[in-house]
Amino acid sequence: MQVIIRPAPEEATRMVATLVAKAVRAQPDLVLGLATGLTMERLYALLVTMHGEGFLDFSLVRTFNLDEYIGLTAEDDRSYHAYMTKHLFAHVNIDRRNTHLLDGTAKDLEGECRRYEDLIRHCGGIGLQLLGLGRDGHIGFNEPGSALYSRTRDKSLTPMTRADNAKHFADPSRMPHRALTMGVGTILDCRKLLMLVTGDTKAAILAKAVEGPITSMMTATAIQLHPSCTVVTDEAAASRLESKEYFRWIFENEPQWAEFR
Ligand code: GLP
Repeated sequence: MQVIIRPAPEEATRMVATLVAKAVRAQPDLVLGLATGLTMERLYALLVTMHGEGFLDFSLVRTFNLDEYIGLTAEDDRSYHAYMTKHLFAHVNIDRRNTHLLDGTAKDLEGECRRYEDLIRHCGGIGLQLLGLGRDGHIGFNEPGSALYSRTRDKSLTPMTRADNAKHFADPSRMPHRALTMGVGTILDCRKLLMLVTGDTKAAILAKAVEGPITSMMTATAIQLHPSCTVVTDEAAASRLESKEYFRWIFENEPQWAEFR
């Protein structure tokens, strides 16, 4: 795992946007795994700008989102379908037939999860997966207790996750209790992971995810098992990392990061 500490959220987000753009340029039909949340909104805004300036072509890119609420239709503006349209898909030249999200209204939820796993396999697997970090340590909606080998399935959301995400719901009592999510095992199968974490509210959980013992009670710790995972963070989110001077040293010395210094 590589941990990159940038001074502020803007620089961290810009670096992740640049890494995504480079990955798409290297492989125009990249299978890109997408995440949601406030952190990702800033990233998608930058990707839209890069696209507008002619630096990023989505015409062949294929996407898979990590998760979706159970019970919200694609048209519901609180769904992750609507989030992706609003923040990215409506503003770039992506072919909507190449964008994939779980259907949280499917009658057969197990069948829907199997369909998603099959489709990911059919597309050759996810090349680059974007990840945020939930305050309870989740990736996707893999809440505490999720098996580290889990596949796409339905999960109950914790009270903390419901409280954090209820801000997107005009009536917080309508915040769903359950979601469909790629499993931790599904995420670990992606060829590369790229996690973006900013802000001091994530400092304690980021330290556990990066430096703590690997545990299903905090599924973000599973990124330590992945052979190619980059975590980009700002100073605030990095403030509780014990090894931050070591991570800075690596960043200053690794040739692969020279263009970002
Ligand atoms: C939701 C998503 C996660 C995301 C998290 C972080 O819970 N399911 O994939 O990592 O939000 O959100 P934020 O960036 O708003 O803190």
